[in-house]
Amino acid sequence: MRSRLGVNVDHVATVRQARKAAYPDPVEASLLAERAGADQITVHLREDRRHIQERDVEVLRRVVKTELNLEMAATTEMVTLALKYSPDTVTLVPERREEITTEGGLDVVAGKDHLQRVIRLLKDGNIRVSLFIDPDLDQVRAAHKLDAHAIEIHTGRYSESRSFKERSDELMRIRDSAKAAAKLGLGVAAGHGLHYQNVIPVARIAEIVELNIGHSIVARALMTGMEAAVKDMVELLKEAALAKT
Ligand code: PXP
Repeated sequence: MRSRLGVNVDHVATVRQARKAAYPDPVEASLLAERAGADQITVHLREDRRHIQERDVEVLRRVVKTELNLEMAATTEMVTLALKYSPDTVTLVPERREEITTEGGLDVVAGKDHLQRVIRLLKDGNIRVSLFIDPDLDQVRAAHKLDAHAIEIHTGRYSESRSFKERSDELMRIRDSAKAAAKLGLGVAAGHGLHYQNVIPVARIAEIVELNIGHSIVARALMTGMEAAVKDMVELLKEAALAKT
């Protein structure tokens, strides 16, 4: 059975926020993604609201027919919002204001007391909780101890690896962590930096049942849609030429 695909639509909102316009709409993109076979819509509501806005989460909660996965920092503000909008899953991620994207996994070992309280609050709100962690066995064990439902393995280092050796070592770490987590009864997802050329070795790991992919899908959508978008504008200009004043 193939891995479930969570489509992360953050960067549709990045383009919208570049102009503070009403489009492109991540909600519309989510509905198209679902129509194309996505099993889940994933969004990261960041503290600085650089792409997804609270209103996007509110509307997505109402219209997503598959599942909604909200990535968020483990802060009081975000827990309140998660309980308000009730996504199917919350994926807790570390967040640094100045980072371009989520740079590393959560340190579940060091942050266990705080995370335990946050996980409890979310679980009491009937939300499935996943922890975004590096492929590290200590982190996997700590996630299990905190009674999270699932982990998402950070594939950033794998995606950015430059040499064959670095890549296969990282893949091995991902595989070992996935197997250990599944053995402990945790659901196992993976994501970050996955694209059309590097996804297959990760998707082949039996224990990884879900992949969350954003940037590469949004980037490809731009390229595959460019020709049609330009043609539509040329057609409009032709129409206008018929009635030039
Ligand atoms: N999973 C998590 C937890 C993330 O934080 C991100 C980035 O927002 C992704 C998956 C998607 O990463 P990418 O956009 O590189 O595919």
